[in-house]
Amino acid sequence: MQTTRSPQPATVTPDATKPHVAIIMDGNGRWAEARGMPRPFGHEAGAGVVRAIVSRAIAEGVGALSLYAFSSYNWRRPEPEVAGLMNLLRRFLLVEAPQLRDAGVRISVLGRRDRLPLGLSKAIGAAERATANGTTLHLRIAIDYSAREALLAAREATPTADIDALTQALGTTEVDFLIRTGGDRRLSDFLLWECAWAELHFTQTGWPDYTAEEFSASLADFRARTRSFGGVAEVA
Ligand code: FPP
Repeated sequence: MQTTRSPQPATVTPDATKPHVAIIMDGNGRWAEARGMPRPFGHEAGAGVVRAIVSRAIAEGVGALSLYAFSSYNWRRPEPEVAGLMNLLRRFLLVEAPQLRDAGVRISVLGRRDRLPLGLSKAIGAAERATANGTTLHLRIAIDYSAREALLAAREATPTADIDALTQALGTTEVDFLIRTGGDRRLSDFLLWECAWAELHFTQTGWPDYTAEEFSASLADFRARTRSFGGVAEVA
């Protein structure tokens, strides 16, 4: 088959020391149930892990960290669990934003805002405004997020079907490294477009047990990989 041009990875991060890392933080519910506790207990524990991983991401020189906090499919969960998560996310943003701003972190939230409780959408706006000038780490939190929905919206907003234009309309960069905790090995509609060339890493560790040390080890695994983007890897 002849093609007029080769598809190119869009805006690939060439500097592996400032990668865009995405994490599917799975396993909170099972972690809580294994301890005879209600599922929101696992999410509470998971929020503590987010703090530790953000700190380590800064120390590791990660450029962007995208966290899957609430998918558009998670509305199907029992109402108390959903309400608990919304409240947890609001508290996280209110409490953490000042410290994150001081650490040079910029916070952005991906996903739909129109279905979120007012208190959470206000906390999102405030956190985004307060941290807008951060340049150390771009912390992207996905809430009511579906990659397919984001793609449809970006396609509608883009006059041309160009890869870079669509990437720009999505307001994102390529994911270099995707980690999923909790033992499952799928993308669950997270950053599908952005993960076109992502290196993937799956760990059995449930999110509440995931440590900064394991995160650093995961990054070492990523940095040891050779990425050829479909071409031929250069031999040093
Ligand atoms: C998946 O585990 C996890 C979630 C749906 C929620 C993730 C949220 C947090 C870690 C809380 C805080 C986040 C931030 C950004 C402050 P699951 O409940 O599906 O676990 P299971 O597969 O064991 O049931």
